[in-house]
Amino acid sequence: MRYSLTMTPEERRAFVEDGVVILPELVPQKLCRAAAAAIETENAGRSEEVQALYHGSPLRALFEELLGGETQPVTGAQVAVRHPTPPEQLDIYMGEPTPSPSDWNGHVDGIAIHPGPHKDDPDREAPIMSFSCLVGVALNDQTERDCGNFAVLRGSHMANAAFFAQQAAGDGPLGPGGPNWSLEPWRREEGSNASRGQRPELRARMIPPPTRAMGDSPRYVGSPEDGGWWPSGTQQLLRTGDAVLAHYLACHGESRHAGKEPRKMVFFRIKHRRHTEYRPGEHHTSEMQHMAAVLSDPWLEWEGLGEAQASGATDPS
Ligand SMILES: [Fe+2]
Repeated sequence: MRYSLTMTPEERRAFVEDGVVILPELVPQKLCRAAAAAIETENAGRSEEVQALYHGSPLRALFEELLGGETQPVTGAQVAVRHPTPPEQLDIYMGEPTPSPSDWNGHVDGIAIHPGPHKDDPDREAPIMSFSCLVGVALNDQTERDCGNFAVLRGSHMANAAFFAQQAAGDGPLGPGGPNWSLEPWRREEGSNASRGQRPELRARMIPPPTRAMGDSPRYVGSPEDGGWWPSGTQQLLRTGDAVLAHYLACHGESRHAGKEPRKMVFFRIKHRRHTEYRPGEHHTSEMQHMAAVLSDPWLEWEGLGEAQASGATDPS
């Protein structure tokens, strides 16, 4: 197996084990400067300058290698600028101290935040809007902690996959409302963050239950009768031009921002060519069975990851 120069065997192993890896200085500074200027404009995610971070850097070829060929077209991006929080609002959520470690709102994207057919109960029958990999490009230095850093719950990609595999073995469907994940009633308040629910039902959401107690400093919130765990994430320290890869199944989120400068990131969501949304109501169709397998096996789509994928920690040489 020949490895590309853009991702070493060590980086591949780190990605397999942690579900996240930083590829230093992968995106040329010139592209980052142009994108940083462009993000001030409307529809910046689709702008030539922002798209060039992926298509004009080694990222595109890297993903075509990792995912075993052409991916679904990448035409959009999320511009994620996080401004410092005023000191008096730090660690406060809805008027009370935040329960989340480091005010970290860890989640898996696309689980039960897109209202399904039941408008009063968006969890039920909501599709899992998944993808293969989240790729962040830093447009400024983020080398200090607690400055809005992108954070990832290391190893959660494996725990989440194991949970989905259990749900699949229990005849599905996958996600909230399936085996071992009861629906968690909530009401979205105008302007509130959907993944946090609302007091008094404040809880970590969008994360399979077993994963919520993971991390270096998870925290139990609420009473034993009506409480739950919040996981803690590892803040990623980045320099301008660094790319951070986070597996879809890895819980991620941004950290508290007690710094002075806005944190500037651009995120791309990359999909394997066969990837589609998972619709629980169609669990038994062959298309959904494929997606259930993808969500249960973190490496099914990663045909080009190399031996790190199969052996975890074996030196490929
Ligand atoms: Fe997210």
